[in-house]
Amino acid sequence: MNTAYRAIGIDSIGVYVPRLYVDLTAEWAKVRAPVLTRGDVDKLVGKVVDGVGVRRMAVVDAHQDCATLAAMAAKRVIDASGIDPRDIDYLAVGTETTVDQSKSMAAYVLGMLERHYGVSLAEVGAPQFQFACIGATYALESAVSRIRAGDNTKPYSLVIASDVSKYPLRTAGEYTQGAGAVALLICENPRVLVLERGLSATVTRDERDFFRPNGQSSAVVDGKYSIDVYLDCMEAALDAYAKRVESAIGVGADRLYEAIDAFCFHVPFPRMAEYASARVLGRLWSSSPEARARLVAEGASAEGMPRKDFERALAKTALFRSAFDQKVAPSLALAREVGNIYSGALYLGLVSFLEETRSERLAGRRIFLGSYGSGASAKVLSGLVAEPYRSLVDGLRIRDDLRPAAEGGLRTPLSVAEYERLHELSDRERGISVHAPRREFALERLGTSDSPERTDVGYRYYGWVDG
Ligand code: CAA
Repeated sequence: MNTAYRAIGIDSIGVYVPRLYVDLTAEWAKVRAPVLTRGDVDKLVGKVVDGVGVRRMAVVDAHQDCATLAAMAAKRVIDASGIDPRDIDYLAVGTETTVDQSKSMAAYVLGMLERHYGVSLAEVGAPQFQFACIGATYALESAVSRIRAGDNTKPYSLVIASDVSKYPLRTAGEYTQGAGAVALLICENPRVLVLERGLSATVTRDERDFFRPNGQSSAVVDGKYSIDVYLDCMEAALDAYAKRVESAIGVGADRLYEAIDAFCFHVPFPRMAEYASARVLGRLWSSSPEARARLVAEGASAEGMPRKDFERALAKTALFRSAFDQKVAPSLALAREVGNIYSGALYLGLVSFLEETRSERLAGRRIFLGSYGSGASAKVLSGLVAEPYRSLVDGLRIRDDLRPAAEGGLRTPLSVAEYERLHELSDRERGISVHAPRREFALERLGTSDSPERTDVGYRYYGWVDG
């Protein structure tokens, strides 16, 4: 590791997932099978659970939105790390499902935190970064750069990834929805992950794989094409990253796989991380004669095979399965329970990896972060797990909390009728909550005044509700 620079990175992480969920293996599958799999319920469940990789998807209640999720995640990281919120001077939000076409969602979050903690955050910068699911990674990069440049006046920056993922009902996108937020506390000498300076690479292409035209609440997506664009952008970013690693720390592409202990990817659905792993690991192994020979012996030869066939064959090899189980699979446990949280999906994967490997000693290990946003941009960066990271991991119980209340967790299942009612609520129409807000930030009302003295039609009023 190049130690000639200050260590900057992730000091603590807060996660918030709304408690409502749809069980994709129960009533939902029975109701959707006639439309999606010609009435075959088992086939639909098999496709969703094994083919796509999700079991449950988180849904927001009527009083929740992307801003309340973000404020909840922020509160969690502030409370868990024990910092004074006045020690934050930058609050950047990455989101693609924002609550306003003009105002930064970070300003709404800042207001909620100010009122909740009774502090002034007036000198805090509060931008919103938008670039589909990669927005929060751009926000993270800017937070780190500010600190590295010495432009911060306080020790901490807060980077929050928050989204509510929505596709039209009864489409192939529906079972890849989800909702949640991840807040990252960024500072010098962080306790969880030191981001490696200079070891990041970005690729951007003007693409139509996935977008949400103004005024539309759900995304327009060309599903299969979106997978191809994700893989091609990730591969190009990996290649650029590999070159930077070689020149910065002298690790060539042939040794890069060994130098990385965990791969976390953007997870729109868990199988996507498996496709990304086949692309990325296949690419890394292509530089290693020994790995190539092992793959050929197992029937996966890059020569003479169309690429998709090669990656499918590679994904079945013992070499891949053991690498995937060890270095990727732990990052997917939470996504199976939550669904796609867009900008936070990569960071939920990081938390998942840390939580699932809690019995191991990860300090000093390198974690690869493969971020992707449709439209399209990929970034590959890496970090080294910091010595005191266990201070975070020991307090994590996200997987337990994501169990249904009937099994000792915190979650409430929704009937299909309730879920569809909530799904069809628009941003400008607040329905009745399934659970009245309690000990949480909530959207309390939408402004309705249109008089010369005060105009606030559509303005969102948020507050903490003790309940
Ligand atoms: N048992 C086991 N597996 C089954 C099965 C069964 N009964 N039935 C089908 N499958 C498998 C299929 O074989 C396939 O796996 P392979 O790729 O290994 O062949 C898998 O289930 C998916 O099935 P389909 O190929 O039929 O795909 P689908 O119609 O379910 O659509 C999707 C999948 C395209 C991802 C769709 O859900 C979608 O459009 N999602 C939204 C877009 C998206 O998430 N894109 C990802 C890249 S873009 C991005 O990352 C940004 C972002 O966050 C959106």
